[in-house]
Amino acid sequence: MKVSFKELGLVNTRAMFAKAVKGGYAIPAFNFNNMEQLQAIIQAAAETKSPVILQVSKGARNYANQTLLRYMAQGAVEYAKELGWKKPQIVLHLDHGDSYELCKSCVDFGFSSVMIDASSLPYEENVKLTRKVVNYAHKYDVTVEAELGVLAGVEDEVSSAVSHYTKPEEVIDFVKKTKCDSLAISIGTSHGAYKFTPEQCTRDENGKLVPPPLAFNVLKAIEKKLPGFPIVLHGSSSVPQEYVDMCNKYGGKLPNAIGIPEEQLRKAAKSAVCKINIDSDSRLAMTAAVRRHLAENPGHFDPRQYLKPAREEMKKMYIHKIINVLGSNGKAR
Ligand code: G3H
Ligand code: 13P
Ligand code: ZN
Repeated sequence: MKVSFKELGLVNTRAMFAKAVKGGYAIPAFNFNNMEQLQAIIQAAAETKSPVILQVSKGARNYANQTLLRYMAQGAVEYAKELGWKKPQIVLHLDHGDSYELCKSCVDFGFSSVMIDASSLPYEENVKLTRKVVNYAHKYDVTVEAELGVLAGVEDEVSSAVSHYTKPEEVIDFVKKTKCDSLAISIGTSHGAYKFTPEQCTRDENGKLVPPPLAFNVLKAIEKKLPGFPIVLHGSSSVPQEYVDMCNKYGGKLPNAIGIPEEQLRKAAKSAVCKINIDSDSRLAMTAAVRRHLAENPGHFDPRQYLKPAREEMKKMYIHKIINVLGSNGKAR
């Protein structure tokens, strides 16, 4: 049976993005796979009154079960109200949808937003598939994110990464033909906790790795072509050194993990970038806290004992992003 996101108390991204672009801030898009992540996200959004996008990847659907995740998101709206957030603005979004069928099934299942990621296909095929998804989604007022350009992989050379950047000369034609509601672009971010090799970085006076800056010239050129159009940044975790160090101190092995410096994300959030995707930082916060707790309390075996501090650490991280990086606090009162 089909269900509309509106019946679940969710919202799509249209008004949220328009407001964010005008206001010079970005909406956090946090991935979730389990209850503790969801609780931390909702607590952080409710406390800061920030609009929030709950992202479900194909991997999350496989891990946690799509039905369960959807009901969890529905429950999250009620939970947010219970926490005193009178008008929660929560989007349930499919992250990196890779087929029409998957996007359609999410639309039918109560998602308020879907991403069709056809960025690895040739341009015309990307246009065709994206258009097909948009045609279906818009019938139900579900918004669609598309992608142009390929996010660099960690193995890429800096020079070959450049050739994957979104081509500003393609964006007008793409948006016109597909009628997508937002566009994910490639300007030097990438997924995971190893966004750059040490060879791609320089070192500061303390020997700390400093990654190359994002291609703000490409972002500017895209903004000029599509004034006011919502732009999305994937792969935007900062990979906080404190979490990497905490993981490594308590038995982990994360050598040379490196992310996007926060000042660069702050700059992006003030531009047409109105959705910033963060997943890895949540994984790191959770794992670091669990490792520390178990190392310091070897006798503990009740999962609540180590998942509680893990949830608290994630919540702290989400609040920090909302207030100090994206600037979305107070935008959903
Ligand atoms: O874009 C990737 C997200 O971090 C989701 O990752 O596919 O491992 O759930 P996942
Ligand atoms: P990170 O791996 O940088 O957190 O990116 C997540 C993301 O882009 C999800 O789509
Ligand atoms: Zn992504």
